[in-house]
Amino acid sequence: MSNTIVVGAQWGDEGKGKIVDFITEQADLVVRAAGGSNAGHTVINNGIKYILHLIPSGILWEDKLCVIGNGVVLDPFGILEEMAKLRSQGVKITAENLKISETAHLVMPYHKALDHAREAKRGDKKIGTTGRGIGPAYADKIERGGLRAVLLTQPDVLEVELRERIIQHNETIVAAGIEAVPVEETVQKVLAAAKELAPHITNTAVVCHEAIQAGKNLLFEGAQGTYLDIDHGTYPFVTSSNTTSGGACTGSGVPPRMIDKVVAVCKAYTTRVGSGPFITENDDIGDMLHNMGREFGATTGRARRCGWLDAVMVRYAVMINGADELAITNLDGLDGLEEIKICNAYKLRGEVIHYPPSTIADIEACEPIYESHQGWKKDLSQIKNFADLPDLAKAYLKRVEELTGARISLLGIGPSRDQTLVV
Ligand code: IMP
Repeated sequence: MSNTIVVGAQWGDEGKGKIVDFITEQADLVVRAAGGSNAGHTVINNGIKYILHLIPSGILWEDKLCVIGNGVVLDPFGILEEMAKLRSQGVKITAENLKISETAHLVMPYHKALDHAREAKRGDKKIGTTGRGIGPAYADKIERGGLRAVLLTQPDVLEVELRERIIQHNETIVAAGIEAVPVEETVQKVLAAAKELAPHITNTAVVCHEAIQAGKNLLFEGAQGTYLDIDHGTYPFVTSSNTTSGGACTGSGVPPRMIDKVVAVCKAYTTRVGSGPFITENDDIGDMLHNMGREFGATTGRARRCGWLDAVMVRYAVMINGADELAITNLDGLDGLEEIKICNAYKLRGEVIHYPPSTIADIEACEPIYESHQGWKKDLSQIKNFADLPDLAKAYLKRVEELTGARISLLGIGPSRDQTLVV
């Protein structure tokens, strides 16, 4: 398989967890390189539903090594909770199969308090964050005031540094009218968590390079999506990390020339959680999908906003990520429709454009230009081979390839591992 990056082509929730889980069969090492417990990957295997936030989904396989890279922000309590839940479901997690980068930054309770305080202050301009402290944790990292995971192996230093940080951040938290983070209680809780996590902490760049030298296959599991990228997304309605393929390199220490393939995962329609512009948003599709019990967030349970496939966005995402292949997910969500639309360009102040504008005001001023396709009106969920898809579904997919410039290699027609078709 060689070294592959999987990214989201839209606003996250494209079903990357399932695609990654499928590709993992050929991988030896699975890496998470960006984001934090804001992500929510759902994988259903043998009827059991596993929800992953920080831990790479490779953990569900017996023989895979999983790495949480330096680009991730790590919530020690969040990961321990996740480990406990997975273990209760029979998943084996040890210091041998889960390695955490020494230089990943820690998400602390004051980051969560600040996340809530900042959202409250934004009023109607709120971003709709997951409340997991992601933005404030990355802000501390960039500002050079963060605490890194290596401190979990140095309790004496951690205790002093953490106490200082809590006191310092509490000034801002109290000024925002929010309850201060209890100093001693938090220090003790973090020290207890540190003890449990310390055996997992190591130099993961070395782990990755040793694996590459030994001829192993690496899989970089993306979190969130291209349009939540801090640089390339719909700023400021984005997350605080580089969710695009470049982030896999900076977030792991594996250089670009060692990457062989990029797969972009894309829903057959579009969804978005949280605030921000969404050109093809359509409430009728949202109602239809929600009535089917679909499109509720794995992390927050929020109903996702829904709309038609925006091929302008996806084409641009293919370009930014250097995607060789597309994995289309949730095609079965469109099964009941008479007519299916795809947005193939935007009209901005009378001019037709083929890429997303950079400002929120311009994106909001864009009108979608749609083309119409006849729906296949058949249940796809039990199909076992690509060749057996209805012709109308094949025509829809062919058009998606033409519009986005990437070949479709995988197709999702349901939540289970066996509902992924190889194209
Ligand atoms: P944050 O990452 O919690 O700061 O949230 C920033 C924005 O990214 C919000 O609109 C969130 O809903 C969105 N977001 C963060 N993680 C995910 C994800 O895994 N899937 C979908 N949206 C996400």
